Amino acid sequence: MSIRLLKRLAELREAVRQARQAGQRIGLVPTMGALHAGHGILIDRARAESGFVIVTIFVNPIQFDRPSDFERYTRNLPADLAYCQQRGADAVFAPDAAEVYPHPPRVFVEAPGLSEHLCGANRPGHFRGVATVVAKLFQMAQPDAAYFGEKDAQQLAIIQAMVEDLNMPIAIVPVPTVRDPDGLAISSRNSRLTPQERSKAPLLYRALQSAANGLAAGAVPAQARQSALDMLSREPAIKVEYLEVVDARSMTPVDQIRGPVRIAAAIWLGETRLIDNIPT
Ligand code: PAJ
Repeated sequence: MSIRLLKRLAELREAVRQARQAGQRIGLVPTMGALHAGHGILIDRARAESGFVIVTIFVNPIQFDRPSDFERYTRNLPADLAYCQQRGADAVFAPDAAEVYPHPPRVFVEAPGLSEHLCGANRPGHFRGVATVVAKLFQMAQPDAAYFGEKDAQQLAIIQAMVEDLNMPIAIVPVPTVRDPDGLAISSRNSRLTPQERSKAPLLYRALQSAANGLAAGAVPAQARQSALDMLSREPAIKVEYLEVVDARSMTPVDQIRGPVRIAAAIWLGETRLIDNIPT
């Protein structure tokens, strides 16, 4: 059966109503398109657990802190549709901006504490935009479960807090990061790297791993962090935006290990910003 392209909210609601009537569990995979294997694994997981799988493709204007990033974001709906079909999704919801924001938003969802550090510190308003659009997509599709990548661990923590604090009856399913064979986390931004930058990019993952090994061997977070920073500083093309050992739930830097943590970093290679993190 060929995949259904839904552009209007009314069409989405009707498709969901029919699926529910047929007794199907609804799985939602929110994306901004430019789909790759990192998105593909979310669709696979949703497919395995749901009767009706919806992928949303919407480049959300209110989460971009730089208008130029929004404008140059890759948009290729025919290729994305074909990809979703191949991975076994049932429908793609790809609304126009006016369908999602008929007027400038008056109500926002914010998670101030969880947005303070890491990516939130350098991207004002970003997580407010993410949480608000995801809340809207949840209200629109009313899924049983929604699938998010651990690649964006801070985003995932904010969505988990949102459904908990706002009593949204949706299971949030975290999916581990998909990597290239050399360890680089797959991202649409990787295609912006020059061949030379691309050859240096896997150092990010190696630095995170070395910090994780340090923690496993009993180092305190400050030592583990410093060893990873030292590794990255040996490569002059890499500029570190942040590298922190954070509590896995609160996304706040820790100085002692008392529970699960993540080591998270953002670096710049030339004009391209890369993020990655690993759990311990
Ligand atoms: P986008 O960057 O398109 O990512 C969509 C989903 O794919 C996110 O949950 C992200 O964590 C996951 N993902 C991306 N690369 C991955 C990888 N290498 N391995 C595993 N999962 C990966 O994140 C967004 O869009 C937006 O902020 C959105 C949540 C859709 C709200 O606009």
